[in-house]
Amino acid sequence: MADNKRPESMQRITTPELAQAFIDEQLAALRAQIGDKKVLLALSGGVDSSVVAALLIKAVGKQLTCVHVNHGLLRKGEPEQVIEVFRNQMDANLIYVDAVDRFLDKLAGVADPETKRKIIGKEFIDVFAEEAYKLDGIEFLAQGTIYPDILESGPVKSHHNVGGLPEDLKFELVEPVKFLYKDEVRVVGKQLGLPDNMVFRQPFPGPGLGVRCVGAITRDRLEAVRESDAILREEFRKNGLEGKVWQYFTIVPDFKSTGITDGLRTYDWPVVIRAVNTVDAVTAEVAELDFKLMAHIVDRITHEVKGVNRVLWDLTPKPTGTIEWE
Ligand code: XMP
Repeated sequence: MADNKRPESMQRITTPELAQAFIDEQLAALRAQIGDKKVLLALSGGVDSSVVAALLIKAVGKQLTCVHVNHGLLRKGEPEQVIEVFRNQMDANLIYVDAVDRFLDKLAGVADPETKRKIIGKEFIDVFAEEAYKLDGIEFLAQGTIYPDILESGPVKSHHNVGGLPEDLKFELVEPVKFLYKDEVRVVGKQLGLPDNMVFRQPFPGPGLGVRCVGAITRDRLEAVRESDAILREEFRKNGLEGKVWQYFTIVPDFKSTGITDGLRTYDWPVVIRAVNTVDAVTAEVAELDFKLMAHIVDRITHEVKGVNRVLWDLTPKPTGTIEWE
């Protein structure tokens, strides 16, 4: 489709000046497309949907309604940051949906990875559709589609597009960053004044921490994933590794091992750490880190995360291991 091909004349956006020119052009185009009508956006807090939200807030202000669904599988502090940045700082119309119980109840006892993904995807559509039905006069649906999503290159599955909506919710699409590559979206996001930790964040899968709480998700093990992930990210940030290592996260498998704390035997979960570098996620290599830092992270996780007595470092490249564990 000609519509879906990046124009040959389009310059690669690498500088604040080029980003500003793109923003100015998009604001005019968005105002022309939307007029005085209303737009809806599923705002995950990831780079792409955040940049689309910031552009639309500038272009049409309160004609935009953002829906942020907290499915309980987000990283520590993420829902709070979405509310802080978009509602408090940018004064957006933001509907925050606490759907944590609903998702975790649906996922209870489900161990198969693809079934978990399907449940999360379907539940997300259902929650979003329920919110959309409550609103009057929506005529457009904004999406953070980026160019690689259109090209469908590589194995990175895109789950931020609200495909599968019921027919009566299929509004006209607004996709202002659909010709941009990820690095360009980041330059634009920075120029729009979004916080660095939102703009330069590492890739995060649509099913979130759900695929890192291996097997059937339980609330306590999910909490161990979230807390250990927060410690890992904090240590990477403090040690200048944020933005240098491509993706880093923790996994908590569904088994226990013996340990000892304060002279008492424990029987708790291990936390697995994965930190990899890659160009396109098709292959990946393990990030080489300072051993003292690794030991410090192990020490923090084993002492600060409830229900954990051991840390394993995953040194497997892709292939043979995928980046995620399920
Ligand atoms: P794998 O595990 O296949 O991951 O080596 C490659 C990249 O894709 C991300 N990933 C996902 N992203 N939905 C997503 O939006 C998913 O279901 C999903 N599974 C994996 C993964 O984090 C890595 O960056």
